[in-house]
Amino acid sequence: MTNTDPLQFTWLDGRTTSLIVDLSGGVPAILYWGPRLSRDTSGATLALLGVREEAQGSPAIEAPVALTPLAGQGFPGRPGIAAHRAGREWATYATIVSVDQVDHRITIDSHDPAAGIALIHRLSLDPAGDVLIGSTEIRNSGIGTLDLAALAAPVIPLPGFVTRLIGFEGRWAGEFQRHAMDRPPGLWMRENRRGRTSHDAFPAMIATQPDTTERQGRAYGFHLGWSGNHRIAVETLPDGRAHVAMEALLLPGEIRLEPGETYRTPDLFASVTDHGLTALSQAFHDHLRARPDHARLRAKPRPVHYNSWEAIYFEHDLATLMDLADHAASVGAERFVLDDGWFMGRRDDTAGLGDWRVDPAIYPDGLDPLIAHATGLGMEFGLWVEPEMVNPDSDLYRAHPGWALATPPAPVMEFRNQLVLDFGRAEVRDHLFAAIDALLRAHDIAYLKWDMNRDLSQPGGIDGRAAANAHVLGLYDVLDRLRAAHPAVEIESCASGGGRADYGMLARTDRVWTSDSNDALDRLTIQWGASHFLPVELLGTHVGPGICHITGRRLSMALRVQTALFGHMGTELDLRELDDAETAELTAGIALHKTHRALIHSGDLVRLGTAEGVIAFAVVAQDRSEALLSYTSMTEQRASLPAPVRLAGLDPVADYQVDLVWPGTLPARSPLVQAWLKGVVVHGDALMHAGIQPPRLHPENGFVLHLTRCT
Ligand code: DGJ
Repeated sequence: MTNTDPLQFTWLDGRTTSLIVDLSGGVPAILYWGPRLSRDTSGATLALLGVREEAQGSPAIEAPVALTPLAGQGFPGRPGIAAHRAGREWATYATIVSVDQVDHRITIDSHDPAAGIALIHRLSLDPAGDVLIGSTEIRNSGIGTLDLAALAAPVIPLPGFVTRLIGFEGRWAGEFQRHAMDRPPGLWMRENRRGRTSHDAFPAMIATQPDTTERQGRAYGFHLGWSGNHRIAVETLPDGRAHVAMEALLLPGEIRLEPGETYRTPDLFASVTDHGLTALSQAFHDHLRARPDHARLRAKPRPVHYNSWEAIYFEHDLATLMDLADHAASVGAERFVLDDGWFMGRRDDTAGLGDWRVDPAIYPDGLDPLIAHATGLGMEFGLWVEPEMVNPDSDLYRAHPGWALATPPAPVMEFRNQLVLDFGRAEVRDHLFAAIDALLRAHDIAYLKWDMNRDLSQPGGIDGRAAANAHVLGLYDVLDRLRAAHPAVEIESCASGGGRADYGMLARTDRVWTSDSNDALDRLTIQWGASHFLPVELLGTHVGPGICHITGRRLSMALRVQTALFGHMGTELDLRELDDAETAELTAGIALHKTHRALIHSGDLVRLGTAEGVIAFAVVAQDRSEALLSYTSMTEQRASLPAPVRLAGLDPVADYQVDLVWPGTLPARSPLVQAWLKGVVVHGDALMHAGIQPPRLHPENGFVLHLTRCT
């Protein structure tokens, strides 16, 4: 359907939400986005409900919070576009020329003939889900070069009652830390200039009512599917209106459009609910699970990993690795991942990156003997690579020193002894594609761990222009080509842990390495944060060494297993060092994961409101036939006994048998624990409304209950 004039409002319905775009003012603006509205309310009525009268000392007619707020329209806040042509034509004023709606997708074309700028907004809301996907495209329809400094993905207004913001920040080995604040007056902005998604500024934001909880209250979630520099802006105007804008952050001169050229923002993924933060997360999880590529993850259980990194680091030796493979298979691992250290000259982190050939000094007969050994034990084989990087001490760098990003004459910023290759250049991409493609063709490799261990600190291309944006697009191109050439190979997105865990990467990879910290307590918080936007089966979760290499903290095998159970589970430690009891406990933990992974990897994650120092959550089968509850006491509690934990998401009118499934033993003083051990039957509504009294636990201890609906 194409309309140029009579269409005043256009409407999309999700599963439980509605989006109405107001076209009547000549520029597209979101009139309503929230819980589903009946079509009995017309757009015109809604517009009337929201009419804002002329205020004192204010313009006669306010410029709207348009999908792209326009300086040319006199918008008083941060515009959605910043562009100019040699210093002129900066005040874009693009008005609607056509609107196309095909099923659940709307495309709105707007044009500013004077400035020679066309804007195209694309919005889609799948009726089977509740995630709105939006992008903004700009085309230079004029004469001469158009310099683009910023272009926001569709800008979303926030209702006045949505006054809390939740962001996610962190650092290396401490990603996804949830940080809440009141929405401040004026402009709140967060920028990421690290060139990769970053550990410290996950490109997401949640906006809520002040009293929104995990279970209830309005919550809006926003995520930018982009793996590079980005900007999040939440603006509260003095006139009371507020809005959220997200965009790829463009470096000076990075996007200069010649006539006819276009630039399109990354996709914005957004959702809204009146049922609190858990429901918001579930909408995002459902969305990722509906990705076409997710079907292959569902088609077979996610194999339990063994990863060599924290066991041996760079000390590769075939006999040791075969021994580790034997141990890995015997505790139940199903995929053996050979981490960093296998390629030319890579004895430590100072050399080798770029030379993606097996080093005969360590592997005289290549990788095949190790692969054959691992596959002979019934495991798949996975391999670590870091294709975007080069060590100055490498054949690749010696042959092509000009392939690395740099900003001469500034001295090169050192960062793990490596430089970033300019993936914006076709010859660089072709070379790296060919190198990885050759490895995959030559070997029986089921899995690639695609790592990326430094920021794009000085992202200058050979022509002196900024090349950070092009690097990300080049990376996507190489990944897309590899996926097309090797559709069965799974790929993990790792960037020193969770430094590149975004929907842009997840459109072409199969999991993220959530964090380099295998400290089970820190990991709980990290996984908790990540769960707001990522379902657990996409989060790599490993049982690490008894004393964490990063925090130095000693944590029990029971706790390490419990934390790793709720993700794509793996182990990453020297299994030869475990005593018999630890080996038996790890083996039992992996077996438990296998028993329940179909539920863990497909169920609804329900974060449970808890006391300080406790993390509790459940995974509930979508048909509510079973659930797992995980409860961990992180620190000593203030009260003598912990507060009850109330389940959620169960069938309120069904009975559930409650069984303790982890750890093997708990201090059994409490009669309730005795009952769990025997398998007590409790009604769903009692579990949800009255809750369960956890036993008194020492800090750094937890338990897992399995609930089965009785027929
Ligand atoms: C950083 C990753 O996050 C680690 O898991 C490991 O693969 C190292 N790089 C290897 O250099």
